[in-house]
Amino acid sequence: MSARVIAVVNQKGGAGKSTLAMLLAGALAESGARVLVADADPQNTALRWATAGEGFPAEVEDLSDEEGKLHKRLRKRLEDYDYIVIDSPPHAAAPVTESALRLAHLALVPVIPSPLDLWASLKIREAIAQARHRNPALEARIVVNQVQLNTVLAREVLALLPEFGIPLLAAQLKQRTAYRECAAMGATPTRLGSRAAIALMEVQALGREVVEILEAS
Ligand SMILES: Nc1ncnc2c1ncn2[C@@H]1O[C@H](COP(=O)(O)OP(=O)(O)O)[C@@H](O)[C@H]1O
Ligand SMILES: [Mg+2]
Repeated sequence: MSARVIAVVNQKGGAGKSTLAMLLAGALAESGARVLVADADPQNTALRWATAGEGFPAEVEDLSDEEGKLHKRLRKRLEDYDYIVIDSPPHAAAPVTESALRLAHLALVPVIPSPLDLWASLKIREAIAQARHRNPALEARIVVNQVQLNTVLAREVLALLPEFGIPLLAAQLKQRTAYRECAAMGATPTRLGSRAAIALMEVQALGREVVEILEAS
């Protein structure tokens, strides 16, 4: 089977693209899949994460020089993996984002539930709509990230998200120190042991939902 490709995209820096890409790739790899993270961001956050410790379960490769040729480069690698997760830079209109969305089966858009972040994400909605001219089967989901429980603002903004035009993933990522620790240690929540048990369940639920979408599409 040829790899299923997930592009993690957003116009906004700090929305959680790299965090989502690495947690998802880690969960898929720990379930036994062959996973490549294509680090398409010159900041190389994904690469730094993977090399901050030993034995990150997914392969991470720096492809930040490929820009608009990313899809061509990755097409040659489709047979080698079950999943390719693209971590992209914060530019909705950049050639690299267009290239990632051209190859992807699923675009994931991490959004922090704040109006500023939601407004900034409108650009990526346009980029996804554009990409569908060439890639009509492209699925897209918003992933609500850094959710703080029970804040009124979060609830109000979450209520707006359905109007956004891209369906929401049911799984969310809460704001958790465990995720920052994973980045610092080059790890996945599994590695943090019992103190990250809830984080691990959250990330596994995310992985399962993504796999279901990809299997149905
Ligand atoms: N769910 C989360 N819980 C805690 N910290 C988070 C979470 N998501 C992202 N962060 C932190 O927010 C910052 C930006 O996240 P990052 O994944 O680098 O965003 P992007 O790749 O979109 O720029 C980082 O410091 C990261 O550790
Ligand atoms: Mg990043």
